[in-house]
Amino acid sequence: MLMSLTKNYRLVLLKTAFVAAAFGCFFNTIAKEGMWLPANLKKNEADMKSQGLEIPVDKIYNANGTGLNNSIVLFGSGCTAEVISPKGLLLTNHHCGYGTVQGLSSKDHDYFANGFFAKNNKDEIPCPGLAVTFVRRMENVSNVILQNIPDTLDNPKRDSIISVRIKNLEKGWRFTTKMDATIKPLFNGNQYWVFLTETFKDIRLVGFPPNGIGSFGGDSDNWMWPRHTGDFSMFRIYAGKDNKPADFSADNKPYQAKNFLTINIAGYKEGDFSMVYGFPANTQEYISSYQLNQILKTTDPIRISIRTKKLECLSKNMSASRDIFLKYTSKRAGIANGWKKWQGEVKGLEQSNAIEMKKTEEADYQAWATANVDKLGYAHELLGKIQVNAVKVDSALKADTYISEAVFGIETIQQSATLDKILNLLRSSSMGDAAKNDSITKLAKATDAFFKNYDAATDKDMFQSLMPMYYKGIKSWTPIELRKSLKYYKGKWSAMASDVYNLSFMANQEKFNNFIAKIAVKDTLKIMSDPGWRLYNAVAQFRKLNITPLITQYNNNLAFYNRLYMNAQMTQYWNTNFYPDANQTLRLTYGKIEGLDPCGPANYSYQTTLDEAIAKDDPKVDEFKVPSKLKELYTKKDYGRWKVNNTVPIAFTATNHTSGGNSGSPVLNAKGQLIGTNFDRAWEGTMSDLHYDPKLCRNIALDIRYTLFIVEKFGDAGWLLKEMKMVKK
Ligand code: ARG
Ligand code: GLU
Repeated sequence: MLMSLTKNYRLVLLKTAFVAAAFGCFFNTIAKEGMWLPANLKKNEADMKSQGLEIPVDKIYNANGTGLNNSIVLFGSGCTAEVISPKGLLLTNHHCGYGTVQGLSSKDHDYFANGFFAKNNKDEIPCPGLAVTFVRRMENVSNVILQNIPDTLDNPKRDSIISVRIKNLEKGWRFTTKMDATIKPLFNGNQYWVFLTETFKDIRLVGFPPNGIGSFGGDSDNWMWPRHTGDFSMFRIYAGKDNKPADFSADNKPYQAKNFLTINIAGYKEGDFSMVYGFPANTQEYISSYQLNQILKTTDPIRISIRTKKLECLSKNMSASRDIFLKYTSKRAGIANGWKKWQGEVKGLEQSNAIEMKKTEEADYQAWATANVDKLGYAHELLGKIQVNAVKVDSALKADTYISEAVFGIETIQQSATLDKILNLLRSSSMGDAAKNDSITKLAKATDAFFKNYDAATDKDMFQSLMPMYYKGIKSWTPIELRKSLKYYKGKWSAMASDVYNLSFMANQEKFNNFIAKIAVKDTLKIMSDPGWRLYNAVAQFRKLNITPLITQYNNNLAFYNRLYMNAQMTQYWNTNFYPDANQTLRLTYGKIEGLDPCGPANYSYQTTLDEAIAKDDPKVDEFKVPSKLKELYTKKDYGRWKVNNTVPIAFTATNHTSGGNSGSPVLNAKGQLIGTNFDRAWEGTMSDLHYDPKLCRNIALDIRYTLFIVEKFGDAGWLLKEMKMVKK
């Protein structure tokens, strides 16, 4: 019989008991770790029902086109969205639409300041480059992909056999289903699944509240609870005449969705069953303590310290000019998001003693593996090998982190990769002139997008802050050219920066365009004397020769050992229902609506309200400026049908195991109806990507009633609500 508990569960229970005893309070959360593959939910059904699920799991997912999976999409490159009307209306997070909306914004159309709500379909704004993908069906194809491949076959051989099989099998699935087919590894390569998908490319902006609502609390409140951010935006899928995916065309029609979510506006209470359905991107729940330690002690701290500097630079420059703000706001949000998440991760890993817990698990594993050598033949050697590899790569990893975060965090240097590509084209003897020109034109075009959001003075500031950090942080891993150059500038980074930003093509769009307009083969020399390219080239070459080979070898070794280690762990706990690490495939997680800290201060409610948001209003601080129209609605208590206890609920927390990529995911009740939109996690719990602790891990969701209140009362877009199906019970 399958148990629906993961192996960590036993330890989690022990720890929970310990914490409860220490705090003198009873803690009865059931650990709801797990991001389950929808097609495997039968194994969880009994557990889910005992927790409160009221619908059969094959309503959540099935291969016949009638499951809830047909209402969920991968949104853009990394978020989730859900279909909430028969006319293809999509709901996701504000921060998921942010980059797209930046592309649609200008000083005259400042959607961040003013918001945007279409008044009818005609108003909806096309979003070039944005696409959404449905997962219609998934099947385990491990039998075909892994047939007759021994576990211990070395990775290069194994990978080449597998990649041929994948290509052929995908082709077959495409042919028979007329859908896109992608085969992906799960459980570190111990299983392979095919995902049959449909991608729509004509997506239009429908609603986007101003930042004073949609990113209220900004980076200060990001990853934090309590939270008052109206983090939503709405888009619409458009389809061709046949209701199938089509490239953008003014003739396309709103997608007629057979499947869309019913919205439950009756609310919820603490303890209610909840599910989150979406596309978590990346977790590493089964890694060894050595790798965990590396994240905790090496990579996270380096990345945090570099980003602290980056953010100082950006804040200074962005607050000085609205123009610079508009150029950098999306990039800054991304930088700040990781920066804060990793801090929470470190805090949470320490607070929950994750390394020690892993070590205990490993001792247990090692004892089992040693006693059962004949079972797999390799299980007893794995941890030792993983440790040796991890230790060996440590300083190269440190250097690599500095290079990617600091050196290539300076856009002028990073973008000099374009000059490098042009240089290679000019030098190429196998390519004709016409083909060369064509490629150069394409590169130049892509560079336009870069310059649109680039300010040389801001980047120069960044250069002067980050280069010394890289240099001091890992001096023995810096290229000789850089050391010589620094000597030439008498140790003054500011002098080096002056030359880079006065002279480099990549620091001046006009100069770059003029160069490209008249480019000739002899211009290789011009590139080779460009100070931006010289830095880029020195560091990139050094990395390629001295660092990348070590890291690649490490990753290859690790992929091999981690696959076997995963298999061994699943063999040890043969009767445990394991979930695969996240890899941007569709997952369902379930848990309960629950406050953050039942043993802590009593004023930590599981839910926040508009009154609390208004209390945080601070017209002097951008992040906490409540728009005046929202304040008016508040003063008049003009809440319409969204009034609950004389206010409007904003956000709530639950114990769903989510990750990056679950932004915009629907939060569903026991009947599979929409009650909210997932948008974040509580700070101390962000380590759930590596280690789930039921005491600390909470996801944060926006109450659907706040979304609808804002659309109707703030955005005057009540017409959208008429499309939706709402129930009160
Ligand atoms: N932390 C959330 C997530 O990981 C929201 C990020 C957007 N908000 C921000 N202030 N940067 O995506
Ligand atoms: N905000 C995250 C995202 O963009 C989701 C929150 C999380 O990482 O849990 O996917």
